[in-house]
Amino acid sequence: MMGALILVILGLATITVLVQLEADYVVENLGGGGSGRALVLFHPSRDARFSDQISEALAEGFKDAGLTVDRTTLTRTTPGAPEGYAIIGIVSNTYYWAPDRPTRRYLDRANLSGLPSLAIIGGAGSTGRAERMLGQALRDAGATVLGTRSVWLWRPNDESRMDEPNRGLALEIARQLGRESAARVLSGDVSNPDN
Ligand SMILES: Cc1cc2nc3c(=O)[nH]c(=O)nc-3n(C[C@H](O)[C@H](O)[C@H](O)COP(=O)(O)O)c2cc1C
Repeated sequence: MMGALILVILGLATITVLVQLEADYVVENLGGGGSGRALVLFHPSRDARFSDQISEALAEGFKDAGLTVDRTTLTRTTPGAPEGYAIIGIVSNTYYWAPDRPTRRYLDRANLSGLPSLAIIGGAGSTGRAERMLGQALRDAGATVLGTRSVWLWRPNDESRMDEPNRGLALEIARQLGRESAARVLSGDVSNPDN
């Protein structure tokens, strides 16, 4: 009995470390048409690629609004003061009611000096505290926070569309958020940030 408990605890500890191991530093140009640029920063999720897909959907939304998009992983090498971007989007994962460690470590040292920013956090369904922490970390990093949003793997993302795949709804929400946030920035409407 005691042995089984120890095994479970060791297993959980291993998973907890593995899912928050820093990724390789990767910079990708995801294309798009305009001269304005957007940056998506994310920590890749290790299991079901949820945050990878959210970051792609967010990038599509930025492109819909006419921006050219770069995507970068959140690592020790990631520039703390990104230059040349009209907007940035952070995509994080929830582990134990908090944003993943690579995201927190990055925002702790980032200097976003007024850069319009939004954050999306993925999780199974209990993300409220993590989303608040992420918003606060963005504000502490000096960003102009356009908004934060949770999307879920298990909890319904839209209770009026329960017959549709939940993950697809999450990606639709991320894309729409990217499109609307970028449009706000491009039209100069960043006068009412929540910071
Ligand atoms: C150790 C661990 C702790 C987790 N804690 C939470 C949590 O507190 N709240 C939540 O909504 N989801 C939680 N999750 C679910 C992850 O947030 C979710 O799986 C994440 O978005 C990673 O995506 P993936 O499944 O594609 O790897 C946890 C997952 C793991 C492995």
